[in-house]
Amino acid sequence: MLTVDSLSVFYGRIRALDGVSVSVNEGEIVSIIGPNGAGKSTLLWTIMGVNKPSGGSLWWKGERLLPVPSWVAARGISMVPERRRLFDNLTVRENLLIGAYLRKWDASVKKDMETVFRLFPILRERLGQYAGTLSGGEQQMLAIGRAMMGRPALLLFDEPSLGLAPALASEVFRAIQRIREEGTTCLLAEQNAYKALEMADRAYVMNVGRVAIQGSGKEVLANPEVRAAYLGIKAGAS
Ligand SMILES: Nc1ncnc2c1ncn2[C@@H]1O[C@H](COP(=O)(O)OP(=O)(O)OP(=O)(O)O)[C@@H](O)[C@H]1O
Ligand SMILES: [Mg+2]
Repeated sequence: MLTVDSLSVFYGRIRALDGVSVSVNEGEIVSIIGPNGAGKSTLLWTIMGVNKPSGGSLWWKGERLLPVPSWVAARGISMVPERRRLFDNLTVRENLLIGAYLRKWDASVKKDMETVFRLFPILRERLGQYAGTLSGGEQQMLAIGRAMMGRPALLLFDEPSLGLAPALASEVFRAIQRIREEGTTCLLAEQNAYKALEMADRAYVMNVGRVAIQGSGKEVLANPEVRAAYLGIKAGAS
């Protein structure tokens, strides 16, 4: 569905991505883990067309993915950015409707709002509340709900569990699994390596702008280097 081939991205003279190749098949959950500064967010913003690559290519269903945000959005690729980026002075309902702005405005909008409420019942109770006054966890749910309203084919998540208490983080991870079950392919960048690998069909470990390790979620989870560096488990321990 999505192929990222030998991608290089610079910020001025700083090389943030150095020959990164990543692929996502339809229906998968693919996780990208790696330390701060590895280039995870840069990769996602490059897929979205915000960062312009200086080398390599991006492909979407066999077609070249142009580095133009509106073009990418029109292909059904959407992103839940880190730190949510909601419209704080708009209500929950208004934020959700903004998520549907690209599509045909018909009865399906209401139906999809119901789908979002099934994922996150709290949002129904908070419909009239300003987004800026929601708790961190509720804001993350709203950001995911807003992206869902665009009926994306592929949804990118940047650190969806960042700053959330464990129970809320688990709720967000469960929601991502249900979003995939409803037919949206998911690519996520995460610091919460264990959860991200556990639920991933495939995973990539990035380090200083490169892919260091890749495999199925289970393989990467079982990798001794990953266990030592990201899961705090010493070799030999189970
Ligand atoms: N706008 C920018 N201008 C200059 N350098 C940047 C910019 N954004 C990111 N970088 C640099 O590019 C590198 C990759 O950053 P990126 O944000 O992609 O990493 P990340 O893996 O998402 O890290 P984190 O886990 O901290 O979110 C870092 O060295 C970072 O300092
Ligand atoms: Mg990041």
